[in-house]
Amino acid sequence: MDTQLKEKIKALAKSNSQKVIDIRRHLHAHPELSFQEFKTAKFIAETLRSEGIAVQEGIAQTGLLATIQGKNPKKRATALRADIDALPIQEANNVPYKSTVDGVMHACGHDVHTASLLGTASILNTLKDEFEGTVKLIFQLAEEKAPGGALSMIKEGVLENPKPASILGQHVYVKTPVGKVGFVEGVSSASADDIYITVKGKGGHAAMPERNVDPVVIASHIIIALQQIVSRNCNPLTPCVLSFGKVVADGITNIIPNKVNMAGTLRTLDEEWREEAHQKITRIAQGMAEAMGGSCECIINKGYPPIEQDAALTQRAKEGAKEFIGKENVVDLTKLMGAEDFAYYAKKTAGCFYLLGVGNEAKGITSNVHTPTFDIDERALTIGVGLMAWLALKELSLN
Ligand code: NI
Repeated sequence: MDTQLKEKIKALAKSNSQKVIDIRRHLHAHPELSFQEFKTAKFIAETLRSEGIAVQEGIAQTGLLATIQGKNPKKRATALRADIDALPIQEANNVPYKSTVDGVMHACGHDVHTASLLGTASILNTLKDEFEGTVKLIFQLAEEKAPGGALSMIKEGVLENPKPASILGQHVYVKTPVGKVGFVEGVSSASADDIYITVKGKGGHAAMPERNVDPVVIASHIIIALQQIVSRNCNPLTPCVLSFGKVVADGITNIIPNKVNMAGTLRTLDEEWREEAHQKITRIAQGMAEAMGGSCECIINKGYPPIEQDAALTQRAKEGAKEFIGKENVVDLTKLMGAEDFAYYAKKTAGCFYLLGVGNEAKGITSNVHTPTFDIDERALTIGVGLMAWLALKELSLN
């Protein structure tokens, strides 16, 4: 594609940069939890309409779809996706755009993804007489909370009429410095399943353990025993994580409770092993509880599947990124155990999900996503905005 168009995109990304930063800061200061993104959706719609971009609101309640048609709009369609929800975390940064909502924070950078896609929309709209085809911009609700927003938006038809031949998404990544972009090939993110285990025993006086069935001791054994799912049962070449972040035994110093509730997550990149692991977890937990005189209920809620990057699209996007930001700024990254419901789009059409470097060690911007001190080097926004516009136009230029 012609370098003139590339330079135009770069110039627009640069001249729009303050506006995109302001949008990001507004979103950051006003975060909303998954499935509750009402004000966020309204803000997105208003921003798009102020630029004269057609937008459909209320998809699966708070999702939006903007459409930009170039010349000959039926020629080819491609889709771009951003997620819009925030997390239940209390922000600990002292910045002018700090979250104004108690206990809610854009700690996963979805404010960045949304602001970036709005910036991309503006560029594509400005250039719509210079390309052929249609770009669909998906602003997706509820990425952070199962069952997620992607599936319901797909059900409501965001990938139909026209059907995009490809979809691109990006995610902030603090381990990669600002200025760089990372790609992962093959299966790039993990599945994530929620595990809920309730161990039932018989509570009573802590001084008379012989009269009780202590669920706290049983639960402790179960947690340790389940470690062998990863260390002894899983193929060492298959990445797998099993973590329990919640263990509630609500007794006191001298009272043993009747039950213990535990919640954890299982993540892996192998769909077959995933099913097997579910069965093994259940069997070990129930077997141990019964062996010790108690019982155990095990509920596993299946979450997002792994993202399978389309090989050809990923190669094209990588090449496009090299053209746009320079070969030296495009890096190969290893697989990540995070989960993403972008995976559902990638099951329907060719998908590529890449990582936008936002870190800056010298400025102390090193906190990971999902922490109270997460932040980004905002120079990443200009790159995110321009690169996505460039990649979208490259997709549309295919025959
Ligand atoms: Ni995220």
